[in-house]
Amino acid sequence: NGGDSDAKNLRVKLVLLGDSGVGKSCIVLRFVRGQFDPTSKVTVGASFLSQTIALQDSTTVKFEIWDTAGQERYAALAPLYYRGAAVGVIVYDITNPDSFSKAQYWVKELQKHGSPDIVLALVGNKADLQDKREVSVQDGMDYAEKNGMFFIETSAKTADNINQLFEEIAKRLP
Ligand code: GTP
Ligand code: MG
Repeated sequence: NGGDSDAKNLRVKLVLLGDSGVGKSCIVLRFVRGQFDPTSKVTVGASFLSQTIALQDSTTVKFEIWDTAGQERYAALAPLYYRGAAVGVIVYDITNPDSFSKAQYWVKELQKHGSPDIVLALVGNKADLQDKREVSVQDGMDYAEKNGMFFIETSAKTADNINQLFEEIAKRLP
């Protein structure tokens, strides 16, 4: 789980990766502050936030979250942020098939160059935009299953499944 931990208080380095505009920063803002910003600005380089959750068995998990920039010009920086990460959260936008392809690129990159025991989650965000959906739940689920990843669809806008995403990750920590 990223190294520094004991049985009851875990500290976990988590990196978010995915195309620009899929909602990575909004997911983090929702999880950490309970807010949604419809005018969210593109991330430059990366940003760091942390949030602690308590599990049922009173274990606490402090997520140290690196929210990376999805724009292509920042792609070369990604290894700086995923190096040593215990968790990789790879996000796409369910209304954007290109972002789903990009997610698959990041999965392969983390499988090749991430920590050997990294916990990977695949997240289809913007699940509130059902009428604009272009990536089926089944396609997300199938890809995740083939790659041994946890899969969930979320909405940073409505808060749907945001806490569940982090709780499920916490349960899967080695
Ligand atoms: P980069 O920082 O460039 O990598 O982008 P990002 O992945 O951090 O995207 P960001 O969180 O800034 O969100 C991009 C846009 O999508 C913003 O206009 C958000 O308001 C919108 N958005 C994010 N999440 C959702 C969601 O769940 N539903 C809807 N409808 N819009 C969302
Ligand atoms: Mg961002």
